[in-house]
Amino acid sequence: MILALESVSKAFAGLQALAEVSFAVAPGAITAVIGPNGAGKTTLFNVVTGVFPPTRGSIRFLGRDIAGLPPERIVGLGIARTFQHVHLFRTLTVLENVMLARHGHSRAEALACGLGLPWARREEAAVRAQALEYLDLLGLAGERDRIAPELPLGRQRYVELARALATEPRLILLDEPTAGLNEREAHEFGEALFRVRQRGIAILLIEHHMGFVMTVSDRIVVLNFGRKIAEGGPPEIQKSPAVIEAYLGSDDGRD
Ligand SMILES: Nc1ncnc2c1ncn2[C@@H]1O[C@H](COP(=O)(O)OP(=O)(O)O)[C@@H](O)[C@H]1O
Ligand SMILES: [Mg+2]
Repeated sequence: MILALESVSKAFAGLQALAEVSFAVAPGAITAVIGPNGAGKTTLFNVVTGVFPPTRGSIRFLGRDIAGLPPERIVGLGIARTFQHVHLFRTLTVLENVMLARHGHSRAEALACGLGLPWARREEAAVRAQALEYLDLLGLAGERDRIAPELPLGRQRYVELARALATEPRLILLDEPTAGLNEREAHEFGEALFRVRQRGIAILLIEHHMGFVMTVSDRIVVLNFGRKIAEGGPPEIQKSPAVIEAYLGSDDGRD
């Protein structure tokens, strides 16, 4: 297992946002976290990525406990994240956005690049080649010189994914990647996730679009009021009485 949560809890001023949540993410698999509004899904992503530490419990990534490490350390260890609302550099091209996402770009390197030192130029060429490879993988090569925020939202989601890939992660966390996409765009995005998975990169995603979840997920974890109420493959989850009840019992089952 690449990521393993063991009895992870998070309380906010008396509110139990996560309660004793345990599950594991297999390498090179797509795992979905679903659950009604307020179930604790985003909180789960925040404790895994180091936005804040869990109140209790352990989070092991590639065998080491990462609970409470700062976000930049966690990215450096190989966990990348995208957000529900797209975060891109507004004046830069698609290619520049992806090149800049690469971690470990030291200040010395940036300075050397500015001075045009030969080793720095070689380094930049390597970063560029790698960024182009990710754009190719995601079908974005034709848009590489467009200003990123000028692309339609559906295409910006791919830029975000390419930026996540550029940090060379072993695991990518995606928060509602199909929000704002139509059916066809969601389907195509799922195909892109399969290409990412094929590279041996694990994906953990929060998603409300049930058709998408059932099509792309190898495994599904269901949260309700901070607790894990079910875990299994898509057919099991679709039949689970606890899951059906949680969704019917909520106002609308959505954020
Ligand atoms: N930073 C925070 N401070 C206080 N309460 C929070 C914070 N983040 C989330 N919560 C609360 O924790 C619960 C779970 O929220 P969240 O993880 O955002 O749920 P979901 O993403 O499943 O909709 C909610 O009751 C929410 O109000
Ligand atoms: Mg949320």
